[in-house]
Amino acid sequence: MTDRHLSAPVICVDGPSGSGKGSLATALAERLGWRYLDSGALYRVIGAVALERGVATDNEAALASLAQGLEIKLADGRIGADGIDLSQRIRDEAVAAAASEAARHPQVRQAILDQQRRAADGTSGLVADGRDMGTVVFPGAELKIFLDASVEERAQRRHKQLRNKGVAVNLRKVLANIRDRDERDERRAASPLRPASDAVIIDSTHMAIADVLRQALDLARERGLAEAPPVASQEQRKTSTNPRSGRAPHPRAASKPKT
Ligand code: DC
Repeated sequence: MTDRHLSAPVICVDGPSGSGKGSLATALAERLGWRYLDSGALYRVIGAVALERGVATDNEAALASLAQGLEIKLADGRIGADGIDLSQRIRDEAVAAAASEAARHPQVRQAILDQQRRAADGTSGLVADGRDMGTVVFPGAELKIFLDASVEERAQRRHKQLRNKGVAVNLRKVLANIRDRDERDERRAASPLRPASDAVIIDSTHMAIADVLRQALDLARERGLAEAPPVASQEQRKTSTNPRSGRAPHPRAASKPKT
């Protein structure tokens, strides 16, 4: 199945846990005035509800039926299922592990495929973040970015985030959790974590988020998805040598109307 019926342009940002893809994707959506799909949040909701209801994460049929029966709502940066807000709950480490286990099952992935594709219906573009956005969900996307970073750097970032939230955890444990998740996400048979053949790979190990965003915006401009920056900043930076980078935005790249 392909996504030939996309009604809006899509930028995919895939990558492993802690690579910074969430920060990049939200910043990119904000800068372009596009919508944002956090596909990991959908798997996390399934993981959270499975834990809540005592459904084993190796029971594919039960998880798929749970996923099919849930009414998951993603709006304004919040997420809920069956009318209950789960925005905080899904950020737990236990929920992340359950999500990664549930995500191994093809029937579970199938259950939320349409919901993910429907996110591209609309007038503004979509920035979609996950593991298989470029390979499975939106294979025809206009731009695919695969954001990577060393596992040690990703663990440091996650550790810092948790400490800032007041969660006391040790770095070695965070590193072990990330390694477990990487292994599960990369080795599973169904839609494993890997770059699409036409993805641009960015290694953010030694990069600040602002530099990653700048590189992503340059790529978006090269593909006609964003307008060229003002002349002054072009002259200051003189980074892009691509002759197409100053062309008009993609015809389907209308910004989200400001309300
Ligand atoms: O991006 P995240 O950490 O919120 O994702 C949580 C888990 O969900 C991740 O370990 C694997 C799974 N996932 C997936 O299999 N496919 C996606 N497109 C997004 C997430």
